[in-house]
Formats: sequence, C-alpha cells, structure tokens
Amino acid sequence: MTHRIRVGILFGGASEERQISLASGLMIAEHLPKDLYEPKLLDTLALMAQHPGLSPELREKAIALQESRPRKALPATDDLPAGIRDQVERAESLAVSATQALSSRGDRGIDVAFLALHGKYGEDGTIQGFLELTGLPYTGSGVLASALAMDKVMSKRVLRGEGIKMPRGAHMSRADLSRDLSIVLARAHELLPAVVKPSKQGSSLGMSMVDSPEAMESAVRIALDHDDQALVEERIFGTEITVGVIGVVGSEELQALPVVEIVPKREFFDYLAKYDPDQCDEICPARISEAARLTAQSLAVRAHRSLGCSGYSRTDLILGPNGPVVLEVNTLPGMTMNSLLPKAAAAAGIPFGDLLHRIVSLALEPRG
Ligand SMILES: Nc1ncnc2c1ncn2[C@@H]1O[C@H](COP(=O)(O)OP(=O)(O)O)[C@@H](O)[C@H]1O
Ligand SMILES: [Mg+2]
Repeated sequence: MTHRIRVGILFGGASEERQISLASGLMIAEHLPKDLYEPKLLDTLALMAQHPGLSPELREKAIALQESRPRKALPATDDLPAGIRDQVERAESLAVSATQALSSRGDRGIDVAFLALHGKYGEDGTIQGFLELTGLPYTGSGVLASALAMDKVMSKRVLRGEGIKMPRGAHMSRADLSRDLSIVLARAHELLPAVVKPSKQGSSLGMSMVDSPEAMESAVRIALDHDDQALVEERIFGTEITVGVIGVVGSEELQALPVVEIVPKREFFDYLAKYDPDQCDEICPARISEAARLTAQSLAVRAHRSLGCSGYSRTDLILGPNGPVVLEVNTLPGMTMNSLLPKAAAAAGIPFGDLLHRIVSLALEPRG
C-alpha cells in the first residue's frame, strides 16, 4: 500500500467556539477513512501564545501545548450541552501543538490541513492566510471568501450586490453609538421587529430578538461586546432552512445538498438549539414546496459562488412569506456527524466518511 495521506486536523484555537471546534475535529479524526488517511489532531491555540487577547487560562494552555508539556484538559464549560461535553474533554486530551505541522521547514508531518475551526482565527481568513504563506494545502475556502463570509456586514453588501435576497439591515460600531446614539437607534427602530447580532461571530452568540424600541440599545451593546460592528436586521418570520453546497472532485461543478428544515424548540436557533439535539428538530428533506426547494438550492449555490467559496459551504435561509431569504453563508460549518451539512449529505446518499474524503480530495486539487 502506498503511504496514507497525513491529515492535520486544525482545531481548538482561541475563538468563542473553541469547544464546538474540538468536537468537530474529533469527529473528523474518527471518521476519515482509515485506509486512506492518517489523522493528527492539532490545536492552533499553540500558535497564539503571544497573542495579547488571550485569557490567562488559554495562554497557559497555549504555552503548555507549544512545549509539549503534559497539561490539564480545560473542563467543558457549563453552557455546553451534555451531548458534546465528553467529546470536548476527550479532544482536549488528544490535541497536540500545531506549530511543527504549520512550519515551512523540514518534514511537517502532514500533507494537508483539514480546518475544523469555527469563528475567529479560523473561519475568518486568518489561518487561511497563514497556510497560504506556508504553501500547505487546506480544506475549504481561501482567505478572501473566508473573511467575507465571516463578516455579515461585508457579505451582505456583496450578496445583495449580486441580487440575492437578504433581510433589510443597518450596521453600527461602538464609535457610532457614542457619537450619534439617537440617529443610530432611530435607524434601528425602523427595522422592528428586529434581530441584533455581532457582524463577525457564529453559533448565535451575542444575538438578541428585539420587539420594542426600549430593548434596542442594550441588544446593540451586547452584540458590540462580541465584535466591533453590530448588525440590526428586520426579523423574517417563516420556516428556517439551511442548504449545504459541496464541490465535485475534478470539476468546477457544485452540488446543492437536500434542504434541511430547522425547527427550534426555543425562541430561535440559538446556541443551545444548535448543539443540544433535544432543543431542536432538524428535518431533511425539508417539508417545503418543490419551487421553494429549488429556489433555496439555487440561492445557496449563487451565494457560494458570489463570495468565491471553495470546497464546501452552508447557507442559512428563512423561507418567508415572499420566498427564501438568505441570512448568511458559513464557510466552516459544523462537522460533527449530527451537524447540519453531514446530515444533508447523508440524505443525498453521501455517508460522513465519503463527505470527508471528498472535502480532502478537493483541497488537494489546484485552487482556481
Ligand atoms: N433576520 C432574521 N430574521 C429571523 N431570524 C433570524 C434573522 N437573523 C438571524 N435569525 C435567527 O438567528 C440564528 C442565527 O443567525 P445567523 O445570521 O445565521 O448567525 P450565526 O452566524 O450566529 O449562525 C438563525 O439561525 C435564525 O434562527
Ligand atoms: Mg447561522
């Protein structure tokens, strides 16, 4: 047998979605076909020991990883649904430093990087830029598409510019708030009932549903605790759906996966609904009309192309009274077996291991 492809699964890191990333990475390591791939779990937190933004706890862990010292596993936090706590703690104990594998000198010990990061320093183009410098092939989108998709204000500009229907919105920074509070709030009030979210964040962190003018200012301030820009959007009422798009190996083609319908048992698809299977039903194929399905799939493919995504993506939409409206594009969607994109792939007859194989194969093709 020729040598197996060595896959460095980059995961962990320092984002607010660190723990979700640990769970995704572990699942990927366990399901990459063993006859073809040799996985290594590499924590990118090790690259960040000097980063001034790290908490003392994360810094200590980053240094211990770098020095390959034995270290305490960070316990899973209380806000984490029970289902993934064990995975997170197991992943913490298996992870090794990503530094040698990402060096551009000597044998790095890996042939390709599989990005299982979520949120800041992973989904936002930063690690992709780093990987471009080292010349190591990596899964998923490149620098620009990643950065654009992560930034909901910027991606809305691009997608609306391409004629893709999205909720009306207004954005504001902390400086806007201190300079022109009343003007900013007046603009936001026009969008009521509204959704307020940080521009660059995921997993519904820092988000609020706002029904009255009185609740707007504090919702904007909460979003601004997570990012330097907040986005206020009109709230679209309807059926929440999501559409995965994957590349086809050896061609420029894209395959839209079956539509998944999301039915949260909570006010909206918040952090708990996303990661606790008891808090949300996910139904595939979605119970929507054929026309709505085709429109949603075509919007997801157009959104993927408009942002210049590669490999795979997942577009979140709401099927409102006037048809599907795009909320956002995820360039590194959740990759546990129960995550939305793997579920949709399974419904299309693509088992999880085959999906992972396809994603790595696409990463090894020359980038267009
Ligand atoms: N404009 C909107 N109208 C109605 N619901 C929304 C809107 N924007 C977001 N939501 C709800 O919040 C969730 C998270 O929003 P999303 O924009 O997808 O950000 P995230 O990156 O956190 O997933 C959505 O899945 C949906 O339930
Ligand atoms: Mg989303």
